Amino acid sequence: MSQLETPIEFRSDTFTQPSEAMLQAMFAAKVGDDVFGEDVTVNALERSVADFFGMEAGLFCPSGTMTNQIAIQVHTQPGDEVICEAGSHVYFYEGGGIAKNSGAQVRLVQGSYGQITAEQILPVINPDDVHRARTRLVSLENTCNRGGGSCYNLAEIAKIRSLCDAHGLGLHLDGARLMNAIVANQENPKEYGKMFHSISLCLSKGLGAPVGSVLLGDAAFIKQARRVRKVMGGGMRQAGYLAAAGLFAMEHNINRLAEDHAHAKQLTSVLADCNWVGEIFPVETNIVIFEVASALKTAPEIIAALLSQNIRVSAMSPTHIRMVTHLGVTPEMIHRTVEVLKGL
Ligand SMILES: Cc1ncc(COP(=O)(O)O)c(C=O)c1O
Repeated sequence: MSQLETPIEFRSDTFTQPSEAMLQAMFAAKVGDDVFGEDVTVNALERSVADFFGMEAGLFCPSGTMTNQIAIQVHTQPGDEVICEAGSHVYFYEGGGIAKNSGAQVRLVQGSYGQITAEQILPVINPDDVHRARTRLVSLENTCNRGGGSCYNLAEIAKIRSLCDAHGLGLHLDGARLMNAIVANQENPKEYGKMFHSISLCLSKGLGAPVGSVLLGDAAFIKQARRVRKVMGGGMRQAGYLAAAGLFAMEHNINRLAEDHAHAKQLTSVLADCNWVGEIFPVETNIVIFEVASALKTAPEIIAALLSQNIRVSAMSPTHIRMVTHLGVTPEMIHRTVEVLKGL
């Protein structure tokens, strides 16, 4: 394929393809029946991710949607209320799953670049009153997808956790891209393990595995989560072939996320000089969201012009475009994209 024929994929980091070495690790996996708890590779992955965050136990699931939905179901009873940000994945992109799977309702808070504060959460915790839904859970997202890959400050999370403790609420983290935040801010993952009752981590985004997410919590929580996973049809059998990719990703693909962040910053600095670009969300990790603000060009026209150069980006709204960097985007691809952007 010539350079122009090679697609440059910025629509999502979910497009990553397993490397040859990852595939070899998958082929070599020792497997068993995981519903019986006998797949040694799944067990090793669950242990390894739990240890990484200093949490008691883990549960391997097919997707981040499932790990989030299981967590919410374990934390709540039907009729309870979940506090989350208005653009958070658990609410915005999971097909109404909170209502359907848990029979719970959401209380939305409008955040800043996807982040909410303890100060905003306090007034939306319902009083103990028969008229009001029982507030039971706060769900945060880090990094925030619709916030342009923004990262929470650990001190703010600590405040939110204190508030949750004071009101008997659970605290869940949709950490689909948590590793991006940890690498970008050089954080200790165990700080997250201490502050959240449950964490969902995706292996199939920037970490480059083809499938899979791990839900973390204490042993009693994960025991309950395992039951919910079975009911949802998420009990997989020889899943060790997939878990092996996750183990490989944990070993080889975390530190390299810094390259993706550097690529995102490179794109941003070029976009900042394009006269058809309006607002650019602050770029902290691997997601670039920007507004097309020009009388001459619309966002769909920019998307089409990029596509004609085999550069794939996605629409976040009628006016906003998202570009996500990942291990399938090479420095040469960034270079080519920069040249194309400059010419638009
Ligand atoms: C922030 C966030 N949470 C959860 C998910 C769900 O992951 P999955 O696609 O594996 O269901 C995604 C997917 O893009 C995401 O961006």
